[in-house]
Amino acid sequence: MVRAVWGSRLGFILAAAGSAIGLGAIWKFPYVTAKHGGGAFLLLFLLIVFTLGISIMIAEMMVGQIAQKSPVGAYRHFGGRPWALAGYIGVLCGFLILSFYSVIGGWTIFYLVKSVEGGILTSDMLQLRQIFESFITHPVEPLWYHAAFMAVTASVVLAGVQKGIERISKSLLALLFLLILVLIVRSLTLPGALEGALYFLMPDFSKLNAQMLLEAMGLAFFSLSLGMGCMMTYGSYVSNETSIPRSAACVVGLTVAICILVGLMILPAVFAFGLNPAEGPGLTFIIMPAVFSHMGGGAFFSVLFFFLLFVAALTSSVSLMEVVTCFFMDEFGLPRLGVAIVMAALMFAVGIAASLSFGAWRPYTLFGRSFFDLLDYLTSNLMMPFGGIMVTLLAGWKACGEIAARLKPESGIIPRWWPAMKWFCRIIAPLLILLILIRSL
Ligand code: PFF
Repeated sequence: MVRAVWGSRLGFILAAAGSAIGLGAIWKFPYVTAKHGGGAFLLLFLLIVFTLGISIMIAEMMVGQIAQKSPVGAYRHFGGRPWALAGYIGVLCGFLILSFYSVIGGWTIFYLVKSVEGGILTSDMLQLRQIFESFITHPVEPLWYHAAFMAVTASVVLAGVQKGIERISKSLLALLFLLILVLIVRSLTLPGALEGALYFLMPDFSKLNAQMLLEAMGLAFFSLSLGMGCMMTYGSYVSNETSIPRSAACVVGLTVAICILVGLMILPAVFAFGLNPAEGPGLTFIIMPAVFSHMGGGAFFSVLFFFLLFVAALTSSVSLMEVVTCFFMDEFGLPRLGVAIVMAALMFAVGIAASLSFGAWRPYTLFGRSFFDLLDYLTSNLMMPFGGIMVTLLAGWKACGEIAARLKPESGIIPRWWPAMKWFCRIIAPLLILLILIRSL
């Protein structure tokens, strides 16, 4: 089978940014940051992103590019058989994430439909919360939207790498940036908004604790699509001539920029409308309609916003499904069509339990967490950091020779930062992740 390649370097950057920027930045980042008290958590998140995040991004993409294989094959290529286990765990992690990701993806479709109908433009917090609660706790309705989201994801993956994934990513990003900027202006000029901006930006270090370190790390891995081989898979579609480090830095920079802008869009409004910042997973969905109800052309902007949120979620879900699909294609020579359909059906089935755990199954918990929370915690806070340890070890010890050789042709000499990064990957990064895991478990 001939391996797919991206049409251009820009296409690759946008597709990788499309994978990173999704529900993580627009749905999860604001509610988790708000829940943990704002500024100090933001600072932790940024620290982790610009140390661990960027190194793992470069490591994953380069390992994928050199090996030209799915994560399992790539680990095996450099480390031999035992290392392939890390690849298998990555694929499983992708499977589990998409199972619950698609549930939230379904919520975005529901809100898109609602905003087209014009039924959510109010600043009555009680009513907005009631719309949200009665939808997510309904036993059947969210499942239809979950199914729709999964079906759209599968059909994009079926269209293949370049035609499907690259094309939708290209048009999205600029529009998303522009819209968020407009919404920030509205949010920041609401009466009482300043307090929210300060809550988000001013660190209060007395709020820090070890558990937050794990949450910030998990959020960083999730938001950047790291630690499960997604960026490795995307890297494996990059031609040999394309330079990775700068592309990786662009992807990290774009994602962080969107996270911060989204924080500035949501938190001021949360304070202006008197919503509790620790509202939880409903935060973005409850607060944004209130913002739209206070702006000229609010109906139009709400449709545009939820449409873009849906597309942002889609470019990420597609990357998750691509990891799983690419694995079965590479390892077993199975056809894309069959794999994508069967996997979509299985992930839909697991997602049913995740969706029900917001409603009928809410009383059933394990370690005090609902099934949805459990999947989220397990993948973001345990499996992805584990993948981060494995990929940095791989890049630092097993793949370092080939990575150094690959970095050379750019300028004829190995970049000055490489020795530092090599040792960071060999020792510091794995230890750091391990310490954070141990401290907070
Ligand atoms: N980064 C995506 C988001 O923030 O929505 C989620 C994600 C995509 C995680 C792909 C992991 C992944 F491999």
